[in-house]
Amino acid sequence: MQGKTGYSVAIDGPAGAGKSTIAKKIAKMKGYIYVDTGAMYRAMAVYLLRNGVAPEDTNRISEICEAADISIAYRDGEQVVLLDGENVNAFLRTEEAGNMASFSSAVPAVREKLVELQRKLAAKADVVMDGRDIGTVVLPDADVKIYLTASSATRAKRRYLELREKGEEAELARIEQDIVDRDERDMHREHSPLRQAADAILLDSSDMTIDEVVERIAELCR
Ligand code: DC
Repeated sequence: MQGKTGYSVAIDGPAGAGKSTIAKKIAKMKGYIYVDTGAMYRAMAVYLLRNGVAPEDTNRISEICEAADISIAYRDGEQVVLLDGENVNAFLRTEEAGNMASFSSAVPAVREKLVELQRKLAAKADVVMDGRDIGTVVLPDADVKIYLTASSATRAKRRYLELREKGEEAELARIEQDIVDRDERDMHREHSPLRQAADAILLDSSDMTIDEVVERIAELCR
């Protein structure tokens, strides 16, 4: 079980709801450490891709995930994910890593390994942790639990604008379909599916600004 010592804020919700932007701001405001658990699942995905494993090959994923040496460091306040000691942050946000993470995060052996790492981090410091199962599984005794969501149309539009800003080609309809598919996998998998914890507060950011959401969560922390 969780050996709880620090203050903890758990933020769960679907892809594109704004979890990481909001969590980073809360962490900065409160002086807590921000733990991005999605980045850990993505680092595991990079490891699997480098080892030539196919996303559907559940048996092979279970077999080799134990050997992945994943750890977390903080540099200038930013979370850095180390894979065998190498900073892999630059490889985490690709479509390929996201897609692989969406499959491999459903494998129990992968979850067990990363949940242990997440609990260790929370035992050492005050944290704002975001993901899919933080309030339900990783930190069931978190001091504040938020379920942050937004409509799939809103989330797709945000992602579209983000890509366009980076000068990348993007097609709104395809992005929304990807989001709907990923929600489906995250919410309906057998192990630790995405769901709102019974004691989590629901925030729908569709019609809220980032600052409004941050202010609401900061209030709940007081
Ligand atoms: O939040 P993200 O897009 O970086 O997450 C990448 C994948 O990892 C996503 O498909 C869901 C999965 N994930 C998970 O299963 N549990 C978490 N606590 C965080 C992410």
